[in-house]
Amino acid sequence: METAGKTQKPHAICVPFPAQGHINPMLKLAILLHHKGFHITFVHTEYNYNRLRKSRCGAAVAPSPDFQFATIPDGLPPPENADSTQDIRSLCLSTEKNCLAPLNELIGKLSHRISSVPPVSCIIGDMAMGFALDAAERIGVPCVLLQTSSACNFMCYKHIIHLVDKGFVPLKDESYLKNGYLETLIDWIPGVIPIRLKEFSNNIRTTNPYDPMLNFLITQFGRSSKAAAIIINTFDDLEQNVLTHLSSICPPIYTVGSLHLLRNQLPANYTLKSMSSSLWKEDPACLNWLDSKPQNSVIYVNFGSITVLNPQQLSEFAWGLAESKRNFMWIVRPDLVQGEKAALPPEFWDEIDDRGFTAGWSPQEQVLGHPAVGGFLTHCGWNSMLESLCNGVPMLCWPFFADQNLNCRYACEEWGVGMEIGGNVKRDEVGFLVRELMDGEKGKMLKKRALEWKKKVAEAVGDCGSSFLNLDRLISEVLSV
Ligand code: UDX
Repeated sequence: METAGKTQKPHAICVPFPAQGHINPMLKLAILLHHKGFHITFVHTEYNYNRLRKSRCGAAVAPSPDFQFATIPDGLPPPENADSTQDIRSLCLSTEKNCLAPLNELIGKLSHRISSVPPVSCIIGDMAMGFALDAAERIGVPCVLLQTSSACNFMCYKHIIHLVDKGFVPLKDESYLKNGYLETLIDWIPGVIPIRLKEFSNNIRTTNPYDPMLNFLITQFGRSSKAAAIIINTFDDLEQNVLTHLSSICPPIYTVGSLHLLRNQLPANYTLKSMSSSLWKEDPACLNWLDSKPQNSVIYVNFGSITVLNPQQLSEFAWGLAESKRNFMWIVRPDLVQGEKAALPPEFWDEIDDRGFTAGWSPQEQVLGHPAVGGFLTHCGWNSMLESLCNGVPMLCWPFFADQNLNCRYACEEWGVGMEIGGNVKRDEVGFLVRELMDGEKGKMLKKRALEWKKKVAEAVGDCGSSFLNLDRLISEVLSV
């Protein structure tokens, strides 16, 4: 970029949706772009920025003059517990309504400030932060949207409007939640395997045609067609069919997954390489404990940043793990149990002894890459699933909400890497499936498939792989133009 005869760096403003599973992939993308010569302004909400400072022990979190953090308010009142996940529904509706003005103001300040900050040349917004498109249009720069979940999920969400047009949604009345209606097979979404209504976002389970979340999804995924490009954190081999269909109805699509593997390939001496965005403090003892366990002997249990269990579910998982008689590492987030402190009873620990380890938050990418981990009991958040595939770790799936039912379906039926635990979790089933995954014949098959995917994703991010090349194409064709 030329200004008065001087070459300036391109300047990307990154606007993640303010939840852990969205911040992580956006930060990795930002790091990769920074390494490729971009000036980055990474926009957190004030609430998350304060949490980040705390989880990183108050250390400065913006480590370079050309990689800066900025904040905007999310428009919500501060929650009672200042270290917990905010309500996602409220966040979606509030960011849509309240964040454009502060983002415009921030961009205005960046433009008028110091000459060392190059002019903003593009905006990268999360798919759920569609107001980024308006901010970009106002200053005349391209806006690219990042889909942090799968391409199949993108295609399904884009088709929610057709569910409405065809009369599947909203539901006629409350009885449709229980009468088997959610099992209805939808087999007309291009490139997507036949799926049941319940595998769409849970936000379609409404009787209200004006339901704000239903309309939020329709609006956000509809307006994605105005983006200069769509980036998806997936890789071509995994979702080829749906990607082909998407490319005929969307702006140019760039698959760059897995972003965490691309980031891992940056040179070790690049100072921002290991910058983390964990909102909770990672417990380093996780890795030491794994070091003490034999290869493939540990089932890792983690329900991500949003899932909440009720006390009964916590207890069934706990006793199921006890009954499995296998080693386990369970990440029990401080806000994992609804309305209560997540605590496991002393009798449980008497039974477990050194066979189990719990922590509040783990360095998950390293945990899944540890040789001791042989299986993953997951809520099927997209990042968790990708991180598992990248490490060849098969899964037990207990989906909770949003895209997770769809991810579970694909993991179990299409990609051959998972087994599902019933929604109404029971200890016997958990115990049986953990043993089956870790030692059974089915578990061996899943492991084999998971290792095949590991190889394929490594190819995608390797030199001349699709994701590796797409990142460069994204820069030369869209972001640096
Ligand atoms: C949410 C949605 O639930 C998910 O379905 C959607 O695809 C993205 O947004 P979340 O529930 O937090 O995300 O799950 P996930 O997508 O798995 O993201 C969690 C991230 O936090 C992962 O990158 C994981 O590595 C990280 N993490 C999680 C840790 O670093 N440590 C932990 O202990 C738990």
